[in-house]
Amino acid sequence: MGEGLLIYGANGYTGELVARRAVERGLRPTLAGRNGEAVAALAEHLGLAHLAVSLDDPAGLDAALRGQRVVLHCAGPFRYTSSPMVEACFRAGVHYLDITGELAVFESLYNRDAEARAAGVTLLPGVGFDIVPTDCLAAHLKRRLPGAQCLELAFRLVGRPSRGTAITAIEGAASGAVRRGGKIVRVAPGHVSRRVDFGRGPVTVVAIPWGDVSTAYYSTGIPDITVYSYVPPLVARALRAGRLAWPVLAWRPVRELLRRMVRRQPPGPTDAARARGLGLVWGEACDGAGTCVASRLRTPEGYTFTALAAVLIAEKTLAGAAPTGFQTPSLAFGPDLVLEIPGVEREDLAGEDIRGGHDDRAGDSGYARRSAL
Ligand SMILES: NC(=O)c1ccc[n+]([C@@H]2O[C@H](COP(=O)([O-])OP(=O)(O)OC[C@H]3O[C@@H](n4cnc5c(N)ncnc54)[C@H](OP(=O)(O)O)[C@@H]3O)[C@@H](O)[C@H]2O)c1
Repeated sequence: MGEGLLIYGANGYTGELVARRAVERGLRPTLAGRNGEAVAALAEHLGLAHLAVSLDDPAGLDAALRGQRVVLHCAGPFRYTSSPMVEACFRAGVHYLDITGELAVFESLYNRDAEARAAGVTLLPGVGFDIVPTDCLAAHLKRRLPGAQCLELAFRLVGRPSRGTAITAIEGAASGAVRRGGKIVRVAPGHVSRRVDFGRGPVTVVAIPWGDVSTAYYSTGIPDITVYSYVPPLVARALRAGRLAWPVLAWRPVRELLRRMVRRQPPGPTDAARARGLGLVWGEACDGAGTCVASRLRTPEGYTFTALAAVLIAEKTLAGAAPTGFQTPSLAFGPDLVLEIPGVEREDLAGEDIRGGHDDRAGDSGYARRSAL
């Protein structure tokens, strides 16, 4: 098994990890990307078929997808790369998976649900660390508290980001987002912070426009959603004091300077560094009567997790287990999907632990007003 899977962007840092994991699982994917030489070198090393095709070449994409059943798209930023591949998948009747974490991409794919159903195609973005663990935790919390009205999710990644992640983050860094009353509301990045306990004592996390601001609503129907990330204490203090001027990140020259700095870094963490890293996820859901439930996850390091989760979901999709239309990981495979990934542990919190840090909310003077929107 494994023929029928095409990994696009396979020569990228994460694409290569995904390709290596696919081979470990006994799959025989075709590797693809726009850089024929780099893709061929990896494919020959792994003993796989390969092809070079640009996303600007619809006829080339049609030829590339002939005979395939699932595309696992690993080339980002996805705001530039997703749409041509989705169009090609619709034309070819091939299921589409990607590893995006970009809110705008989730929203645009959600809006293509009817076309995907008509084409008999699964559209399942976010099969990496963003958003598999947070999405499964959100669905688990909803299962524990079906009347939940407010969802707060937070994560902490121990380990450094890849160049591709850093460049994608620069593209989206100038704007923050939360969901209030079912609508996505644009806010300044980091405008809300709070304390949460990932299991090692309370730390400060700040709100970020993580993909779940889009997708957790579709997975759970909970109308108020905020997603937070751990940031080093210095950054948290600067955010609270307003010393980080996020709007400058909207300026093209500033973004280009940052991109140039990032390109000088190594492609991503080494295997040894990934083995030392880990991911921590915390979530809390509350109903209107003041009842709250909270749970935590501990996962392998983010890129290791992404390779494990993406290949697991590709295998399930190849086996015909994914419904057609727009899907989130938990809608397609249930809240316990994340527990199928080696090294993941989930813990339900009780009593005092649930409220840990809740009163320590900071920089959130607009929260009540915004939540009323
Ligand atoms: N969901 C998650 O948890 C998760 C985890 C890891 C990564 N990601 C995302 O995945 C993306 C890739 O990350 P990475 O670390 O692998 O980055 P990377 O090492 O820089 O690789 C990027 C890949 O995308 C390709 N690419 C970029 N723009 C393209 C375009 N316009 N047309 C065709 N191919 C294009 C590159 O091809 P060339 O070599 O030809 O430039 C390369 O193969 C980023 O957006 C990152 O944020 C998400």
